[in-house]
Amino acid sequence: MTDTPLPLIIDCDPGIDDAVMLIMAFLSPRLNVEAITTVAGNVPLAFTSRNARMVCERMGRADIPVHAGCPRPMARKMVTAEDFHGESGIAGMDVFDPKAPLAAGHAVNVLIDKLSASPKGGYTVIISGPMTNLATALIMAPHIAKGIRELVIMGGADTAGGNITPTAEFNIYADPHAAAIVFDAGLPTVVLALDATHQVRAEQARVDRIRALPGRNAALMADLLDAANRLELRWRPGMQVPMHDPSTVGWVLAPHLFQTKRCRVSVVTRPGKDFGRTRVKDGPRAPHRWVTVADADGFFALVEDLLKARA
Ligand code: RIB
Ligand code: CA
Repeated sequence: MTDTPLPLIIDCDPGIDDAVMLIMAFLSPRLNVEAITTVAGNVPLAFTSRNARMVCERMGRADIPVHAGCPRPMARKMVTAEDFHGESGIAGMDVFDPKAPLAAGHAVNVLIDKLSASPKGGYTVIISGPMTNLATALIMAPHIAKGIRELVIMGGADTAGGNITPTAEFNIYADPHAAAIVFDAGLPTVVLALDATHQVRAEQARVDRIRALPGRNAALMADLLDAANRLELRWRPGMQVPMHDPSTVGWVLAPHLFQTKRCRVSVVTRPGKDFGRTRVKDGPRAPHRWVTVADADGFFALVEDLLKARA
């Protein structure tokens, strides 16, 4: 990776783990978060958009434009996940009204404008929520694909099984038609599905190490992780919360912590027990890379290094 910070667009639905992901991205001097686009997902769009702006302000990055996007999935009825993120969508952080307003421009138009104006492969795009915004942008302006160096997606499940149904993971299940459009576009994509994120959990000892670090950023991250664990353990006793969305920034910053396999991912969009399920077909020349192994200790060492560097 060159010394020039990597141009990054993050499309998200904060969401506690989305917030942890954003904090990691803001702490790294190697990343240039040019824009945040928000989507309905964990909580309704008004809350995901407010929460993204809250994290930007709290981290001293109110300069980063936050553009609201699609307020509902493409075809299915909207589902949300307050059980795991709180009614605010960002349990662990006191809610306030961010000073910086939403940036002008619908997220879909901003994705089209930035990716169209980009040189070939100019942007890394992280999606950590339902893929409604990018799917809509790809339908409106298929040529924007040229502007994407790599798409890094948190979503899907194969061997791990689902977390919202026995076979489907939330981000895909919340808008399977959008996910199908994005995966079918054949973009160079790295997929951090539950198969990977379930290997990276916020065990209490790891959270305690973060809380012991100096500075407000470490305290905020520990508060978010403790809140996420409280909710996770209420609904899924026995296992600490997986680092779903933060694993995307982990990949971008430290791909050596992960192992992948080449494949083509498709999505079940027909109604039935497999609605929203991802199917993974291995193939050496396929466009997608499915993360199969994640180094949890290495990931949390990365998180600690980011927090120490910007205490
Ligand atoms: O299944 C986990 C995903 O769903 C994460 O992105 C979490 O934020 C929720 O959106
Ligand atoms: Ca998310």
